[in-house]
Amino acid sequence: MSGKKVAVLWLLAVLGSVSGGKVLVWPVDNSHWLNMEFILRELVVRGHEVTVLLPSCFLILNGTEPLPFQFEMVEVPISKSEMAAAMDEGFYFWFYEERRLPFWESLKKMIDILRKFENITRTICDGIVKNKVLLERLRASGFDVLLADPLMPSGELFAEKLGIPLMYTIRFSMGNTVERLCGGLPAPPSYVPASLSSLTDKMTYTQRIKNMLSYALQDLAYHYILWGHWNQYYSDILGRPTTLCETMGKAEIWLIRTYWDFEFPRPFLPNFEFVGGLHCQPAKPLPKEIEEFVQSSGEHGIVVFSLGSMVYNLTDERSNVIAKALSQLPQNVLWRYKGKKPEALGSNTRIYDWIPQNDLLGHPLTKAFITHGGTNGIYEAIYHGVPMVGIPMFADQHDNIAHMRAKGAAVELDFSTLTTQDLVDAVNTVINNSTYKESALKLSKIHHDQPIKPLDRAVFWIEFVMRHKGAKHLRPAAHHLTWYQYHCLDVLAFLFTCAAIAGFILVKCCMFCCRKCGRVTKKKKE
Ligand SMILES: *[C@@H]1O[C@H](CO)[C@@H](O)[C@H](O)[C@H]1NC(C)=O
Ligand SMILES: *[C@@H]1O[C@H](CO)[C@@H](O)[C@H](O)[C@H]1NC(C)=O
Ligand SMILES: *[C@@H]1O[C@H](CO)[C@@H](O)[C@H](O)[C@H]1NC(C)=O
Ligand SMILES: *[C@@H]1O[C@H](CO)[C@@H](O)[C@H](O)[C@H]1NC(C)=O
Ligand SMILES: *[C@@H]1O[C@H](CO)[C@@H](O)[C@H](O)[C@H]1NC(C)=O
Repeated sequence: MSGKKVAVLWLLAVLGSVSGGKVLVWPVDNSHWLNMEFILRELVVRGHEVTVLLPSCFLILNGTEPLPFQFEMVEVPISKSEMAAAMDEGFYFWFYEERRLPFWESLKKMIDILRKFENITRTICDGIVKNKVLLERLRASGFDVLLADPLMPSGELFAEKLGIPLMYTIRFSMGNTVERLCGGLPAPPSYVPASLSSLTDKMTYTQRIKNMLSYALQDLAYHYILWGHWNQYYSDILGRPTTLCETMGKAEIWLIRTYWDFEFPRPFLPNFEFVGGLHCQPAKPLPKEIEEFVQSSGEHGIVVFSLGSMVYNLTDERSNVIAKALSQLPQNVLWRYKGKKPEALGSNTRIYDWIPQNDLLGHPLTKAFITHGGTNGIYEAIYHGVPMVGIPMFADQHDNIAHMRAKGAAVELDFSTLTTQDLVDAVNTVINNSTYKESALKLSKIHHDQPIKPLDRAVFWIEFVMRHKGAKHLRPAAHHLTWYQYHCLDVLAFLFTCAAIAGFILVKCCMFCCRKCGRVTKKKKE
């Protein structure tokens, strides 16, 4: 190569690294993707190149939709239908069985399901780390950062294999286990509720017992049931003894998908950034047909109802109970639902396969939002200041609704036992009783009053990590400590021993003196 050519190439490389970075993405196959996609789109707008690793079995993304990202397809020996079947089984369990089966049976079933997902994840992971050609190609591409969701392990392993900085975007892990144990996030069990416990930051004595036990049980479950195989796998792949948790702990920055309008105040670390609601936007005009239906509601306004993208169909019994309740409301109702049309559907209710949820929630006629309590939907309601009726189904949804209830912006119902009257009362309450609307508006104001918008902050930190090749200066030294050093148990043990020895010597001295005195007085008496 001539000197000139080298100079040009060098110049191009330098210019390239200035004008835009290269981001590699390890996605998760469900509603988590929606949130990540927003960040990725913004990165593209700012001139970065985004490449998404896409296993051939993923359902949401198949690489054929017109997205402004590059896709690196990964062939895996799992079919889309196998993936769909595994997901269906998981959802069926969480909707209908988790809270109905006896505790041990439910636990056993849950572990079975998680194992199945672990197996799928492992197979996908094999498809990448054992594919030398793919790894070489990725390495040669010179990515600046890998963005992953720790819900599905293996992103951290790829980052390690490729030798590039890792960043996470995460809503929560069970019991905050990943953030606490791997990220070093402090979580005093006295006032930070464990996830999936439905507790708030104000706990009674018995609730604190429950909270502490939740943490302990989830720690044990993760360490001994869910992570055991991964530790071995990671050690094998990386060729040195390590653990999943240690590898996850190398994440430079954790982007958490909540904010203080949603979270209870709690301690956090400088490499944790709270960017909840980054996907929310001002409402756009509605499609004509929907706008006409909304306007026809008159002064009563509308109620928006969605149980999320994962709930396709309900049983006939449940859907009729719900439809009957909706028919008794004075408002018009827009219901996102893909199942069979319920017979009890009233003339004020329309069913849609899909609704422009954010635009509807931002409509001035919207009075209430009936939601399953997914974080994305809750954030849209917070953004627009709409009170909620929560019907949580699974995962973090009970927690999310518990947060909104504690902040006075929601009423909660139990999906499996709710009656027609319950739903009618709940919707009337959040609409008639103005405290719910006021609380929702208060949260909305807090959400909008931030120095830098959440999306801009998320993108800033990704660019920061690309510019500085990491963010080691934000990394707490806790990562170098063992669990007993972290809690100062070794120091306490030493101090206790000293105190015990001092106490022992003191007691011995006293006894010696007493005996001496005793002898002296005895002698005197004699
Ligand atoms: C990819 O997904 C889109 C919509 O999600 C769908 O219309 C299309 O048929 C899918 N293509 C393949 C090859 O699966
Ligand atoms: C996991 O996958 C392997 C094949 O890759 C299979 O032999 C094994 O039975 C699977 N385990 C479970 C629990 O599904
Ligand atoms: C939902 O629909 C699927 C088929 O589309 C069916 O197998 C399943 O039983 C339905 N679930 C309920 C609760 O009706
Ligand atoms: C609440 O409002 C509805 C109409 O929106 C009305 O029918 C109902 O009587 C009200 N309930 C109370 C307790 O004010
Ligand atoms: C409105 O709701 C709040 C909070 O649940 C409650 O304290 C208050 O008594 C309610 N007001 C009326 C008029 O029902």
